[in-house]
Amino acid sequence: MCGIVGYVGDKSVCEVLTGGLSALEYRGYDSSGVAVIADNETKIYKAEGKLQNLKDLLAEKQNEVKTARVGIGHIRWATHGIPNEINAHPHTNNDGKLAVVHNGIIENYKELRAKLEQQGAIFHSETDTETVAHLVSQKYNETHDLKEAVRLATKELEGAYALCIIHKDVKDTIIATRRNAPLLIGLGEGENFAASDVPAIIEHTKRAIYLDDNEIAVLTPNSVDVYDSDNNKINPKVELLPWEPITLSKMGYKHFMLKEIHEQPDVIRNFLSGKLHTADSKAILNEVKLDKESLKNLNRIQVVACGTSLHAAIVGKYIIEELCNIPVDVEASSEYIYRTTVTDEHTLVIGVSQSGETADTLTAVKQSKARGSHILIITNRPDSAMAREADSLIPVDAGIEVSVAATKSYVAQLMAFYMLAIHLAEIKGSADENYLKEIKNELLVLPQKIELLLTKKEKIQKCSRMYSSSKNFIFIARGINFATALEGALKLKEISYINATGYPAGELKHGPIAMLDETLPVLSIMMTGKVYEKILSNAQESKARNARMIALTDSTDEKLEDLFDYVLNVPHVHELISPMMAIVPLQLLAYYIAEFLGKDVDQPRNLAKSVTVE
Ligand code: AGP
Repeated sequence: MCGIVGYVGDKSVCEVLTGGLSALEYRGYDSSGVAVIADNETKIYKAEGKLQNLKDLLAEKQNEVKTARVGIGHIRWATHGIPNEINAHPHTNNDGKLAVVHNGIIENYKELRAKLEQQGAIFHSETDTETVAHLVSQKYNETHDLKEAVRLATKELEGAYALCIIHKDVKDTIIATRRNAPLLIGLGEGENFAASDVPAIIEHTKRAIYLDDNEIAVLTPNSVDVYDSDNNKINPKVELLPWEPITLSKMGYKHFMLKEIHEQPDVIRNFLSGKLHTADSKAILNEVKLDKESLKNLNRIQVVACGTSLHAAIVGKYIIEELCNIPVDVEASSEYIYRTTVTDEHTLVIGVSQSGETADTLTAVKQSKARGSHILIITNRPDSAMAREADSLIPVDAGIEVSVAATKSYVAQLMAFYMLAIHLAEIKGSADENYLKEIKNELLVLPQKIELLLTKKEKIQKCSRMYSSSKNFIFIARGINFATALEGALKLKEISYINATGYPAGELKHGPIAMLDETLPVLSIMMTGKVYEKILSNAQESKARNARMIALTDSTDEKLEDLFDYVLNVPHVHELISPMMAIVPLQLLAYYIAEFLGKDVDQPRNLAKSVTVE
């Protein structure tokens, strides 16, 4: 996480930097800062809290920075040290001439810091990054060459970094380098850029160089030179960014999250177009590059993901096992990477990630790739680091998701699993044709059904107000909607800060039932199908313990009104498709509760959209 931007050129440096940082706010937003060289001085400005605080500060200081032609900026998601002004980047060295911004974690910073302190470096912050400032400064004093100083210093760093560095004595120059953290160089006319991600520079240029690990770029207004870690000048590939500058707008919605929830029917339509024409036609999934024989012979699938993507993967397991008769293991990437796994060349490994950048999932994918597995990536960012590791790539095309709480990318990921499972089942002949036809038909009519639900939000709003003072929530479900319970609880936790747990309903009596009393809402996800009666019994058990009873259901059984205090109805859908429908009211419930409580819905505290640290 954290976002970095660098600019060298004739435009207003601070405007370019803060404009770029605005586009990187999804990477963190607890503090920010810029450093510029103006009037022969390195000047650093930082602010705690939202980026607007830095913009306000720079507006006051505009006379101090107007001669700047070079600068670097940073937006932070705190790892080392609390989010305050001192720990905000850029960081500097003893004489204050050098400034550095960093994304990543320097794992050996304690040892380096102790050594540098002994040698006279004076530290002000608790960050790992300040070590880099002092280390590069030390090397610069020895070599009088900033690029060489960065090259030598990075050889001593362990961990992950993307770095931009400027120095007062090195005119109009940025040194940029990376290892296991993203950084691209934007190429302009008489100006050049460095940034963690495309949106930060796309307004200015569509030509870019993606730096590889350990490469070092030297940017001036009229040149970009790239070197490998042995100091050989290289000819990097210049790529045309397949992006259009877009102004992200809430389109009249109060928050991006609400807008993104409403975009879900179109996200489904978009995903289906070109892949499924009618219920009678076969699924087209040319993105899967394994040949038919290999697909037929697949005997195991391993899915790795985090957070909401992990929940999509759990739904994916149920779908694939139901239609394709292939065992699917799903594991949180952060667990998968630190144990002995038996994934090998006979396993299809699927990495699921909205951002395509999540460090744990990226590592899991790299590990599996090294063991010879075919890697299939399901992501919303086909230009991401994870996508570059893919043997097969399914872009979910949900469009930019601004709200930190994932909504439309989740349903898009589910669509990828439905289409993958149908495609596999059709190749293997593992599912009854009529059954597949029914599922395909349900998918094709699903967008209209969700649209219908979205026109009837009042009941969900009312429910949100009634339960917004609850301190805890339990979501229960069985079967394929177990993941819906987990995802509903995650949405509520992350944006309203209410403690919420998703539980398999059958497990309630094995412990959590002890918590039930008249203060605790139990939301039962009761979609009609195989497990409907079972979950009804589990709901009865909660009722007998005086819990506050909420149902989410596509059943029209009027008797539910007697058992539940509140019933949230959704249009009827096939059980296998039901997670797509059931999640929508839960996203809305979380949204309205958070909004009612006055929380920062799109940028909840302590979170970032892109989690690039393990
Ligand atoms: C979702 O609402 C969360 N913000 C978070 O759990 C997210 O899903 C997780 O960090 C994984 O991100 P990814 O999909 O970009 O890999």
